Amino acid sequence: MNKKILTTATGSPVSDDDNSISVGERGPLTFDNHHTFEKLAHFNRERIPERVVHARGTGAYGTFTVSRSLNDLTIANFLQKVGQQTEIFARFSTVGGGQDSSDYARDPRGFALKFYTIEGNYDMVGNNTPVFFLRDAIKFPDFIHSQKKNPRTNLADPAMMYEFWANHPQSLHQVTILMSDRGIPASYRHMHGFSSHTFSFWNDKGERTWFKWHFKSNQGIKNFTNAEAIAASPFGAQQDLVDAIDRGDFPSWTANIQIMTQQEANEYRINPFDLTKVWPHADFPLQEVGQLELNRNVVNYFAETEQACFAPNNLVPGIGASPDKMLQGRLLAYQDAHRYRVGTNANQLPVNAAKCPVHHYQRDGAMAGVCPAHGDMNIQSADVNFYPNDQINSGAPVPSPMVEEPPMPILEKAWVKRYSVDADEDHYSQAGDLFRLMDDSQKSQLTTTIAEGLVLATESVQQRMLDQFKKADADYADRIQSIMSAL
Ligand code: HEM
Repeated sequence: MNKKILTTATGSPVSDDDNSISVGERGPLTFDNHHTFEKLAHFNRERIPERVVHARGTGAYGTFTVSRSLNDLTIANFLQKVGQQTEIFARFSTVGGGQDSSDYARDPRGFALKFYTIEGNYDMVGNNTPVFFLRDAIKFPDFIHSQKKNPRTNLADPAMMYEFWANHPQSLHQVTILMSDRGIPASYRHMHGFSSHTFSFWNDKGERTWFKWHFKSNQGIKNFTNAEAIAASPFGAQQDLVDAIDRGDFPSWTANIQIMTQQEANEYRINPFDLTKVWPHADFPLQEVGQLELNRNVVNYFAETEQACFAPNNLVPGIGASPDKMLQGRLLAYQDAHRYRVGTNANQLPVNAAKCPVHHYQRDGAMAGVCPAHGDMNIQSADVNFYPNDQINSGAPVPSPMVEEPPMPILEKAWVKRYSVDADEDHYSQAGDLFRLMDDSQKSQLTTTIAEGLVLATESVQQRMLDQFKKADADYADRIQSIMSAL
């Protein structure tokens, strides 16, 4: 077989890849070491910034198969027919740690899906928890600062974490989930995934229905205790997923939705757009709509998993957002992050590129070029690059008014201002309900984990946290207090 010739990045054959050109055997290098310089220059640029959150993760490709047509609720093309299949890319992650931190941190897990539909990419960028710590995007940077490393010591700092939570009773529900026996999933295959936010479907009659995604693991739920997490390989969850797919043991999830009509949303006792609350299943039962399976590992971790760009605003006709104030902030944040982290043309990289034709008038910029994923390459071409134009009858792209989303209803006659709902909001009932659902050993694991962290916080923080636990359930607070006194 003919050997492949090593070349420079511009294709010139390379004569020697072991020895630079030097002035004599022991002398300095010369300026004609083009190949050495190219190698060193490329090496300096090999890293891109890691994600500011969810830096540590692993991804794989798979398939979404519809088991119930949703054509009554949405025009979303990939949800129309039973048996219809759509290729997806999934990435699971921890939140707070850096790229090489442990897979087994006590932390929510990201559960991000990219559906390559024939009407564009639809991203579901969720977590393994149905709620979140916050209900307004303005708080996200402060929250993340308190959960990541202390700027002075560069170490995790439970005192900072609890100081944030002491000032934010709205976090109590998610804190209860995080500190519970579900706080450290034993693998990415053994956890559920949730959109957490409310989104909306809209149909061909212009009717909007609110919904949430719930992906239930068909492998069941498995978690680690604190001791098991410390003993495990820090990269165990990544290894587990890659190995399972390599041996053909494809992990899968049953996709369910909860739905709420506009009228129910108007009348329901809980704000359906508050990310710190669940929709009780008794009132809004889960409805199975499909199956998600992961069946193909990436070929190159950097090119695919690291450069994958998920954005909650990657929506397709038939799926809309909701007024959730966290989601609204996220609709802006992610593509802005991608332009910084990956580059202005991140959407042209194969893992992010749509599998359907892409036609627009945007041109040039970093990494612009002909993308191999596009058969129909109308971008970065000689074609007309402005709109409107006189070539719309000969192939220049035009907008499609039929995919105009119906108007988003605003419930009240509203003033545009800052609304503080915290004072009279019920932060405690759902956290208390969750605590009361636990058996004795789950309660004791939860309260021990909290006590071991809270004891490191100031007395004032401890007191404010105990007040919150007490409002959820007196037993919740009593247990934590008595464990703390014994530490
Ligand atoms: C206003 C609140 C939030 C902001 C501003 C925010 C911002 C970000 C940013 C900037 C990234 C990195 C994106 C990248 O570089 O590719 C990210 C990643 C991520 N976020 Fe958020 N986030 C918020 C809340 C949430 C919530 C509530 C969830 C889940 C329900 C979530 C799930 C994720 C996931 C899963 C990733 C990783 C996606 C991947 O695998 O690439 N985030 N977030």
